[in-house]
Amino acid sequence: MRTSKSKLAELLAITEKLNHVKDLDSLLDNILYEARKFTSADAGTIFLVEGEKLKFSYFQNDTLDKKNPTINQFIYSIFEIPIDEKSIAGYVALTGKPLIINDVYQITDNVPYSFNPYFDNIFDYRTVSTLTIPLITSRQNVVGVMQIINAMDENGNITPFDDDDKMFVTFFANNASVAIERAKMTREMVLRMIKMAELRDPKETGNHVNRVAAYTIEIYERLAKKKNVPVNEIKKTKDALRIAAMLHDVGKVAISDTILKKKGKLSDEEFKIMKLHTVYGARLFENSMSEMDMISKEIALNHHEKWDGSGYPGYISDIFSNNINFGRSKKGEEIPLFARIVALADVYDALISERVYKSQWDEEETKNYILSQRGKHFDPDIVDAFFEIYDVIVAIRKKYSD
Ligand code: C2E
Ligand code: SIN
Ligand code: SIN
Ligand code: FE
Ligand code: FE
Repeated sequence: MRTSKSKLAELLAITEKLNHVKDLDSLLDNILYEARKFTSADAGTIFLVEGEKLKFSYFQNDTLDKKNPTINQFIYSIFEIPIDEKSIAGYVALTGKPLIINDVYQITDNVPYSFNPYFDNIFDYRTVSTLTIPLITSRQNVVGVMQIINAMDENGNITPFDDDDKMFVTFFANNASVAIERAKMTREMVLRMIKMAELRDPKETGNHVNRVAAYTIEIYERLAKKKNVPVNEIKKTKDALRIAAMLHDVGKVAISDTILKKKGKLSDEEFKIMKLHTVYGARLFENSMSEMDMISKEIALNHHEKWDGSGYPGYISDIFSNNINFGRSKKGEEIPLFARIVALADVYDALISERVYKSQWDEEETKNYILSQRGKHFDPDIVDAFFEIYDVIVAIRKKYSD
């Protein structure tokens, strides 16, 4: 086995990496992944404290992942438990102390908590050993609980977690808590920025952008896995992609309310102005070198291009010109991949939701429309990936429903 010294060096490297993760979900994904790798654990869950409750916030399970391509739908489960001593996670949040259990189905009567087999039952999974750790900030706030499940030995047999695991994961969790607090702030700031850009629909907008962003990263992950992109690269991309996808329409900040909020159909003249939201969005990210800004620009500018070359705004010589002329439309793979994904995510969500200018389409109608646009509006591979993970799409819609 590895020595403690090399484990410590590894921990420091991981901590350093976590400090660069911007998006909250990506961060939880990374924290859980690293903690599991460290302890060779098959599965894990993160709960975050929200008000008086622990809210199920992230989930990984290697065994189920291999069996079921739409397992990610459970990341979007809506599941809360009270912070009290009845559940394992609640007990750990309350006491602020880590807890090792060798077999959750053999918990004795002399402790207040018991195991809730809810997920085991829906997944047909057997949780045995757990290590449950409070996520505590430097100011001693409990921000959440991480539960790592089923430590595995070299032969793939489930073993108990040991005190070394507890020590290392606790150290790691304390660093992670700080990153979680920061990522929560970033998430709030991005949502606030979007609300300012689209003050017209403060209620609808937050959910719309959360849905579009979640659809986008899930479709991306499906495509990337099919192409055997390394896990770490997928995780890194999802981080930037999620925030960039949330910002796809931020250029609407420059469109007047009379157009944006118009109840009926836009006139040709009004639609011409509306189309400029792509260029206005791109301008906001022009002078930055960060990966997130580059992806944000790509998406803002190109999310209304169409696979068959009939979209907008097309090639533009100078996005800062006072007199923007839309050029030849981009076509096929000329359109950046992330923008092609957002195009589908955005239209699906626009159709299946109510808008000031249109009523909601029903689900079958929407699916048929998306399929009818395979190879026309949308990249055929992306349409296929979308339908392959359709259960995940539905779970996202439920989680962020208006
Ligand atoms: P959005 O509401 O986010 O819609 C995104 C895209 O979804 C639209 O891009 C379009 O491709 C698709 N979409 C939305 N509704 C329908 C529909 O009823 N039928 C079909 N086939 N596709 C639909 P598009 O057309 O480039 O519009 C961009 C943005 O312009 C829209 O964003 C919306 O904010 C605005 N907009 C478009 N048409 C109207 C309109 O008639 N009235 C108003 N008030 N706004 C409009
Ligand atoms: C618990 O910690 O008992 C509830 C969460 C779970 O079922 O893993
Ligand atoms: C809305 O239609 O209310 C939101 C527009 C968008 O962000 O696409
Ligand atoms: Fe748009
Ligand atoms: Fe949109």
